[in-house]
Amino acid sequence: MTLAEFLNQLDELASSAQQQLEQAADLDALESARVEFIGTKSGRLKATQKLLGKIEKTDKPAAGKRFNEVKTQIQAAYEQQQQQQMANASGGGTGGEQFDPTVPGPRPRLGHLHPITQTIEELKDIMGRLGFSLADGPEIEDEWHNFEALNIPLSHPARDPLDNFYLRVGEKTYDQALLMRSQTSTVQIRVMENTRPPVRIISLGRVYRPDTPDATHLPMFHQIEGLLVDRQVTMADLKSVLRLFASSYLGADVHVRFRPSFFPFTEPSVEVDMRWNDKWIEMGGAGMVDPAVLKAVGYDPDEVTGFAFGLGIERLCARRHGIDDIREIYKNDVRFLHQF
Ligand code: PHE
Repeated sequence: MTLAEFLNQLDELASSAQQQLEQAADLDALESARVEFIGTKSGRLKATQKLLGKIEKTDKPAAGKRFNEVKTQIQAAYEQQQQQQMANASGGGTGGEQFDPTVPGPRPRLGHLHPITQTIEELKDIMGRLGFSLADGPEIEDEWHNFEALNIPLSHPARDPLDNFYLRVGEKTYDQALLMRSQTSTVQIRVMENTRPPVRIISLGRVYRPDTPDATHLPMFHQIEGLLVDRQVTMADLKSVLRLFASSYLGADVHVRFRPSFFPFTEPSVEVDMRWNDKWIEMGGAGMVDPAVLKAVGYDPDEVTGFAFGLGIERLCARRHGIDDIREIYKNDVRFLHQF
């Protein structure tokens, strides 16, 4: 064999070894490449070494020198590939970090009920313990239940189209119009129309008013309505129930204030305020059911009296949790919601 043939064969061996080592996809492939080229028994490097014996004596030093270079080169390429494959296999990427199976995995964040739903459940619970059962009514109402039966005649400013979300005006005559209910007092009428006294109910749900949203107003919010009708119910009963309700939900140190006010369906009427951040915040209204309302549903005002109240659920929830702006409640920002 001539020196040139030998050197040619070496070059070819070097380049195919380089290629196969680089292309080895995993440690197993790398190992078979190692056996094929550097294996001490039947590796191709070993076989080529044997050819050295067939080289002319004068050419031997040159052939041996080149052989050693190729051998070192293949060995180095193998070691480099091996290190890289081990780093990849441990999942650490370039940094070569080790996978630690004892590190706790990321916890999935569990969903939960919306703060208003939680508030509603708690308020039902408190009033349930005071003996009030649950009543319900539709969010789309007629004018009889939203106004007429509540002693709010057609001429009353509360019926102004600009202050209500009317539906189907024009299709029907004005006094038959439907609207999104502006208060849960509608449910008082629906219950009294269908039951004889005594009555002791609460109703919780959405109400709608074309208000400009601000820290304490929203065009859609929730109210809790309470109604108790029986013989000899007095204003003292109303005040003690509302105080008990407030201290059960907000804590014994809550301050409650009743301010003289006016509602067409209660007489006398009060505004219910609660103390919050050194300010009095209006939570809703209350009063003794007006005899005109009792008559409208067929009750005898000489036989029974009653009290009613309607409070804003968003404000109660905000006061309880120290939320300064009730608009936050409906932004659906999980960073806010997951705190409750
Ligand atoms: N319905 C009244 C409102 O929405 C509140 C209220 C309810 C007042 C019951 C008196 C009695 O403002």
